[in-house]
Amino acid sequence: MTNWSEIHTYAKALIKEAGENIKNSFSKTLTITTKSNANDLVTDIDQETEQFFIKKINEKYPGHRILGEEGFGDKLNDLDGIVWIIDPIDGTMNFVHQQRNFAISVGIFENGKGKIGLIYDVIHDELYHCMKGQGVFMNDLELPQLKEVDVSKAIIGLNATWVTENKRIDPSLLSPLVRNARGTRSYGSAAMEMAYIASGRVDAYITMRLAPWDFAAGVILIEELGGIATTVKGEPLNFLENNSVFVSKPGLHEEIMKDYLKNGNW
Ligand code: IPD
Ligand code: CA
Ligand code: CA
Ligand code: CA
Repeated sequence: MTNWSEIHTYAKALIKEAGENIKNSFSKTLTITTKSNANDLVTDIDQETEQFFIKKINEKYPGHRILGEEGFGDKLNDLDGIVWIIDPIDGTMNFVHQQRNFAISVGIFENGKGKIGLIYDVIHDELYHCMKGQGVFMNDLELPQLKEVDVSKAIIGLNATWVTENKRIDPSLLSPLVRNARGTRSYGSAAMEMAYIASGRVDAYITMRLAPWDFAAGVILIEELGGIATTVKGEPLNFLENNSVFVSKPGLHEEIMKDYLKNGNW
């Protein structure tokens, strides 16, 4: 029998230690390189943090597999067994430019089902964590189930990219939502936007392209609180591929789907 409570405790200790290491790195000079384009940054600290997780997980749980953004983990074609999906630093651009507004994201799955989710906002020392069926906590505080809210009273997490000319969505589709919502925000870390839905600071988050490590932990937290997580077409998310992501409080998900997203020419 898998001891999920032990894995949860171990994962919390690892994410805290990784956060401490990241904070200690602020006094050193970062090595910054680019990946797919000039704005796609990665640092030596992203890589070291991912390697830290992999070493520690392999030591304790050699049978578990790991999918990490920086590619030091396993190559996965399926989610069989126990799989950790890790983003060592989500919001690298913020990490480099602001030294804040970034998070560590860890989702743990068993045969494709989310079991444990952790998102750590290192600078604010806010650790969002959950074990399936046991509620969601921010540090030691249990978070309430998400309540329904209308668009007119909602804050929507949305990057301005998606309401300007881009190759993934007609910008006119979401501009009425921007107008009708109480407000919009963009924090530059998908994991943090999702943690903010869990804590009620944001009501929904819509984005056209994320990788599994960006949303794995967030989806586990949000679903545990009664929130809804789908693609912008309303379809289930695939944890092995890039997806559009629409996560929201209940009720609001249906309203945005019906009044805005369903008109999409996908
Ligand atoms: C990025 C952040 C950002 C999102 C990008 C991601 P990274 O992750 O989550 O908010 O808009 O699509 O790639 O590269 O900083 O881990
Ligand atoms: Ca990245
Ligand atoms: Ca990321
Ligand atoms: Ca990252």
